[in-house]
Amino acid sequence: MSRVFRRRLTCALLSASLLLSAGAFAEEIVIKFAHVASDQTPKGQGARMLQRLVKERLAGKARVEVYPNSSLFGDGKEMEALLLGDVQLLAPAPVKLEKYQPRVQIFDLMFLFDDAAASQRFEQSPKGQELLHSLENNGIIGLAYWLNGMRQFTANKPLHLPSDARGLKFRVQPSDLQAAQISALRAVPRKMAFAEIYQGLQTGVINASDNPWSNIYSQRHHEVQQYMIESNHAVGNYMLITNAAFWNGLPEDVRGELKTIIDEVTVEVNRQALALNEKDKQQILADGKRELIVLTDEERQRWREVMRPVWKQYENRIGSDLIEAAQAANGAAQ
Ligand code: SIN
Repeated sequence: MSRVFRRRLTCALLSASLLLSAGAFAEEIVIKFAHVASDQTPKGQGARMLQRLVKERLAGKARVEVYPNSSLFGDGKEMEALLLGDVQLLAPAPVKLEKYQPRVQIFDLMFLFDDAAASQRFEQSPKGQELLHSLENNGIIGLAYWLNGMRQFTANKPLHLPSDARGLKFRVQPSDLQAAQISALRAVPRKMAFAEIYQGLQTGVINASDNPWSNIYSQRHHEVQQYMIESNHAVGNYMLITNAAFWNGLPEDVRGELKTIIDEVTVEVNRQALALNEKDKQQILADGKRELIVLTDEERQRWREVMRPVWKQYENRIGSDLIEAAQAANGAAQ
């Protein structure tokens, strides 16, 4: 063996062993998934399923840490944390992305979608998918839509018609559009973080709120509200998002497997969400202490009429194309 060849062989062996040891000691990628809901909700269960599947299929390469109940970042901080790379996965209500993409406010228009199936048809439509992927210029990648359930009002008085809401103090998410809708009812909007609703209701800072049954039940809002109004007035959904630099920097095999897992979890979350909400509705009503009011189609139409001027007011920001696509997803023009 010539000296040159021997030197080359030694170099090659050295590089190979360095690569092997680098691989052996490659750090496990930690994926922090923070959210504000409880483990028992569709989002909470989705996050835990994601964690379990990553443990099974990406052991040693990646692991997911789940932080439910605003335990790592609450409403006000989570977007900033994602952009700073302090958390890698979030599933916020679309309203939290309005600063980056005002068109997401389509999901805040009350009484626009007839039901969760219509909102899901919209999400899967070309317009819905374009919306999910429209955040990339802001360094945010949309991975999936997750359903919780339709949002329902809770109040300390019975609500059948929009006029019944007059003067009530409603919690809204930090959204001018949501506040405008509550003002259209001649009620008072109060912007408040999700984690503060229970205390707000308990102390009377607010006396009405809204959320899907799973959030109402897991946050115990029903304990401090007498009337549960099945209004189905807006979809409670999420956009599962990640930081673009983090996502694009993942090793290709990890990113590929993670995407496969996310797709599987998305199917399960969306398949189970409504049943979970129905179960929680029954739990809320089980002790017979609260009254359930189910809005009739005629009553829903009256609420919709009050909301239409607000839809119009926000049409330029959201885009009439999205509003039309949402109405088309209902199966019939309203
Ligand atoms: C959530 O489900 O993530 C929060 C919903 C809300 O703020 O009302």
